[in-house]
Amino acid sequence: MEAQITVLSTRHSAAKKLFKSGTQSLDTYLQQYALQDQKKLQSVCFVFENKQGQLLGFYTLSASAIDANLLDRQTLSILNAKYQQIPAILIGRFAIDQTFQHQGFGKLLLMDALRRCTKQAEEMGACAVFVDPIDESAHSFYLKFGFHALPNQSKLFIPIKTLQLLFQAFD
Ligand SMILES: CC(C)(COP(=O)(O)OP(=O)(O)OC[C@H]1O[C@@H](n2cnc3c(N)ncnc32)[C@H](O)[C@@H]1OP(=O)(O)O)[C@@H](O)C(=O)NCCC(=O)NCCS
Repeated sequence: MEAQITVLSTRHSAAKKLFKSGTQSLDTYLQQYALQDQKKLQSVCFVFENKQGQLLGFYTLSASAIDANLLDRQTLSILNAKYQQIPAILIGRFAIDQTFQHQGFGKLLLMDALRRCTKQAEEMGACAVFVDPIDESAHSFYLKFGFHALPNQSKLFIPIKTLQLLFQAFD
């Protein structure tokens, strides 16, 4: 299947109305708020579209920071954390349309997001990618790809160092 991943624009207005991931809040976010947030530089939304213009999935990225007080000693050590505010990138939202779930597209889109985060981190400095999964099922999806759970929090993270090693192996 020919597909591309691009930044959301007004060109996707019709296609995004048809997007259904099975999680209403994520669909509403894409349909009503993602473009507004992007215009206000709160996040950037990347959409995965096929040749027919259907949206297979989307994710959002934002610059972020996490307070060192929220992390345990082991996590601070994994991240080589040096300052109170730890620079990071947040994958704020992530979803695949129900029609296209269970076909490997989630994995493909997550790899695109993580590769993009790694490149950005090398340009501006960030030592981890964080996600805040919407439910238990999303939590187990991220665990499968090597994310670590944070103690006493719903958030998960993966160190940029790990991602650099992963992508170097494929380059
Ligand atoms: C979670 C979600 C993104 C998975 O997308 P998908 O396209 O169905 O996933 P894939 O087909 O690429 O699956 C990749 C791998 O993850 C596994 N997987 C998929 N969903 C999973 C889940 N909920 N929990 C654990 N593992 C999961 C698959 O079994 C597959 O494993 P394999 O590589 O060993 O075969 C999709 O179901 C979705 O959008 N759900 C609704 C919104 C949501 O939960 N978003 C998550 C972030 S908030």
